[in-house]
Amino acid sequence: MNPKIAPSILAADFACLGDEVEAVLAGGADLIHFDVMDNHFVPNLTVGPTVLAALRKRFPDVPFDVHLMVDPVERLVDEFIEVGASMISIHPEACRDLGDVLKRIKNTGVKAGVVLNPETSEAVLETCWNDLDHVLIMSVKPGFGGQSFMPEVLPKLSRVCDAIKQDGRDIHIEIDGGISSSTIGVAAKAGAEIFVAGSAIFNTDDYANAITELREHAA
Ligand code: DX5
Ligand code: ZN
Repeated sequence: MNPKIAPSILAADFACLGDEVEAVLAGGADLIHFDVMDNHFVPNLTVGPTVLAALRKRFPDVPFDVHLMVDPVERLVDEFIEVGASMISIHPEACRDLGDVLKRIKNTGVKAGVVLNPETSEAVLETCWNDLDHVLIMSVKPGFGGQSFMPEVLPKLSRVCDAIKQDGRDIHIEIDGGISSSTIGVAAKAGAEIFVAGSAIFNTDDYANAITELREHAA
């Protein structure tokens, strides 16, 4: 397993966001996790497509992993594709037609994923396996950084991992929320390959060291 570390900009210093992204990339980040919140689907408000467009201009080759916590999701999906998202993850609760939105993402060459909240069953994946590039398992309630990891989502993560293996699909499992050196190991053991981490990276003064430590604990 080659763990991928995805720093979440939610915990970055927004006064110098581009420099923060540059610093985590220099520190070994594999992708940049971009949390979009609308003060409706979740009780918090973050950034939109214009901010991603600016980052995309400064970092033309970096994979940007867009996590859409917005309702409705359809129009913003198109806008984020337009400004250069590399991966887009959507919550089934915010889609009129989940399969349709996933297909729209995939048809443009962007990687498509479904997010499972802690209380959301993996049964929602049943109708859309063929349209998925990744599954994002939330290990906190979405909306805020700095929350504690919920180990109770791990059995679900393992079941999703088993289903993917059983069918020989090329689908990756990402985990988001409360990931730190002390929680990343169990998530990796359960089958996660992409690890989102906000506070565990940006709340330290040595991003490279934090990323290396996470990678070592995942391996
Ligand atoms: C929470 C977001 C996460 C958040 C993770 O709704 O989706 O990406 O930034 O932050 P930490 O790593 O601090 O839990
Ligand atoms: Zn996220």
